[in-house]
Amino acid sequence: MIIVLFGKPGAGKGTQAPLLAAKLAVPTLATGDVLRAATRAGTPLGLEAKGFMDRGELVPDKVILGIVAEELKKPEYARGAILDGVVRTVPQAEGLRSMLASLGRAVDAVLAFDVDNDEIVRRLGGRTVCENCQTPYTGREVGSVCSNCGGRLIRRKDDDPEAVRNRLRVYDEQTAPVLDWYQRDGTKVAVVNAVGAVHDVTARALTTIGA
Ligand code: AP5
Repeated sequence: MIIVLFGKPGAGKGTQAPLLAAKLAVPTLATGDVLRAATRAGTPLGLEAKGFMDRGELVPDKVILGIVAEELKKPEYARGAILDGVVRTVPQAEGLRSMLASLGRAVDAVLAFDVDNDEIVRRLGGRTVCENCQTPYTGREVGSVCSNCGGRLIRRKDDDPEAVRNRLRVYDEQTAPVLDWYQRDGTKVAVVNAVGAVHDVTARALTTIGA
């Protein structure tokens, strides 16, 4: 099963991805996580991506499609994947469709997490993430310890208010049209109310895809 997780920055994609992955027994692929790991490692990919990410802009389509092509070839994705933030422009959606078609596969459903901008600003204003495994937290201080891997919690540079404003603008202009594209393409698109307890949101998401 290949599921695309879609939604504004801070909508809860990174929170929901591992919960859905555990339930559906498939791995997750998050382009944001791949890019941050490359940035930390100081690879050419990371150096190219860093400026875009810090400003809250999108990394060029060619770079993203290169990452996705490389990842989806790996055997661990043979049973499917939860794609977290992997598709943010129409050219990326088109590129992913061709890539999957060449493997005899297709996106099964798009889960679009719906949250208003005031809640997004509140969530990202209070978020810390593990610098190692990227798990997001609310209400935990910078420097405290990740419950998942023991790593240190940090603030993401793109959670600064100006970058958040830019990310929301970029979402409206470049990412929101992707939902219409999927609908026109005949892919199942399910809008999930992403406000409420985390496990309730997971349950709603699973219900919409019949899992
Ligand atoms: P990425 O890391 O994917 O960032 P994003 O899409 O902006 O999403 P976030 O990770 O900020 O939020 P989220 O939806 O995962 O929410 P979370 O679960 O953390 O990408 C970063 C950058 O990389 C992009 O800006 C771009 O530059 C680049 N990039 C990546 N992919 C790309 C692509 N395909 N094309 C081009 N560029 C790309 O939750 C947020 C907070 O809310 C947390 O504190 C969490 O604890 C809390 N929370 C979660 N659920 C709930 C709930 N139900 N109630 C209350 N609080 C909640």
